[in-house]
Amino acid sequence: MSVLFNEKYADRYFTAQELSAMAPRAVSAMDTLMQGSGLGNDKLGWVTLPEYCEEFTAIQEAADYIRQNADVLIVIGIGGSYLGARAVIEAVKSPNYNLTAKDTPQIFYIGNSLSPSSLNETLALCEGKDICVNVISKSGTTTEPAIAFRIFRDLVNSRYSKEEAAKRIFCTTDKAKGTLKELADREGYKTFVVPDDVGGRFSVLTAVGLLPIAVAGIDIGELLKGAETAMNELCSDELAKNEMLRYAAVRNCFYENGKQLECFVSYEPRMAMFNEWLKQLFGESEGKDGKGLFPVSCIFSTDLHSLGQYIQESGKKLMFETVIDFKQTDSDYEIPMQEGNLDGLNFLAGNNMSYVNNRARLGTLLAHTEGGVPNLVIECDKLDEYHIGYLIYFFEKACAVSGYILGVNPFNQPGVESYKKNMFALLGKPGFEAEKERLEKQLGL
Ligand code: PA5
Repeated sequence: MSVLFNEKYADRYFTAQELSAMAPRAVSAMDTLMQGSGLGNDKLGWVTLPEYCEEFTAIQEAADYIRQNADVLIVIGIGGSYLGARAVIEAVKSPNYNLTAKDTPQIFYIGNSLSPSSLNETLALCEGKDICVNVISKSGTTTEPAIAFRIFRDLVNSRYSKEEAAKRIFCTTDKAKGTLKELADREGYKTFVVPDDVGGRFSVLTAVGLLPIAVAGIDIGELLKGAETAMNELCSDELAKNEMLRYAAVRNCFYENGKQLECFVSYEPRMAMFNEWLKQLFGESEGKDGKGLFPVSCIFSTDLHSLGQYIQESGKKLMFETVIDFKQTDSDYEIPMQEGNLDGLNFLAGNNMSYVNNRARLGTLLAHTEGGVPNLVIECDKLDEYHIGYLIYFFEKACAVSGYILGVNPFNQPGVESYKKNMFALLGKPGFEAEKERLEKQLGL
């Protein structure tokens, strides 16, 4: 097993009977998923994605083109249409990817908010640079990326000939319909497909995630190989032999015991965006019909100096932590001996930073567990593309199984529409006139 689930620091917070009662429900939820007989069963394409990526070669070719012809790749998308790519790039490369020495383009993400300053900043960063654009939107109509694409398409068109501009724009969208698909076909842009049976937050292993990831110089074959290994390994209906199933069962024991928050924790700052991806995956999949754990995240030890106090001592013990732990680091640093020992740190001299980080992790694990915050640990050998691919599939499957244990449809997100309706009305979008009047009255506008 490339990834192990360790619940030994949490087992005082659930009983063997609770887990035994949850086990058949978890198995039944997994059967429902694998037989395609549950809610949202038209969105199960992700289950076999690692086996076969139809567009693999085309993605590699487009990534080569972008790497050879652009200093900057602008990735336009929001939610499931951008989080996965950014999570993998920052985890495998670095959150400082753009600042590191490399022979791949800088990557800027836009269209994931409506902030004018982010937009202006990104435009300024493109000055004097050769750019390519990858716009990613299944619907093609999501306001945030649609506005950004309008602006960056104009930029590309103003900088290059019509023919050249068309070669620099890549659209990842529906295979047949939607505004973006129509526009791409009309302008001759290269298109990639968001499959009908794969929802946004489960789409990182399609062109949605793979194209930007490949541009960053990450081996997408290895990423898919890790996910494929997970697909093949995480099948047993025995909890003892299926790490994913045991994790899903235990987190649901906690939910039924009254826990309301799951905090995804890593001791690697490179995992911050992966945590963001996890928050969307679990939040949009489980949080509905009055149910669901609220996903939050921390990077330790950083956040031990901001949220550590609350986690350790807050009165309401509503949280458990899911810690993703990497055994090996890809680089290390030996703490030097210093004459005079003025900072009192010579007791650490000769030890590596990874040793100190690990001791901080173990100390926190014990402190939090003793403070009433159970810690579940997902143990991984290394932080590389293979293991990130494995983790992606591990969490996607655990999330789907958990959704079925909860009795919700893990693949829809009806609640996301509410803010959109109000925003459209307040912006005066045709068709929302009555709503506009009502909302403006409410706001006193
Ligand atoms: O997970 C999801 O389905 C969402 O986060 C969508 O990806 C997001 O709302 C963007 O939608 P679209 O790809 O249609 O622009």
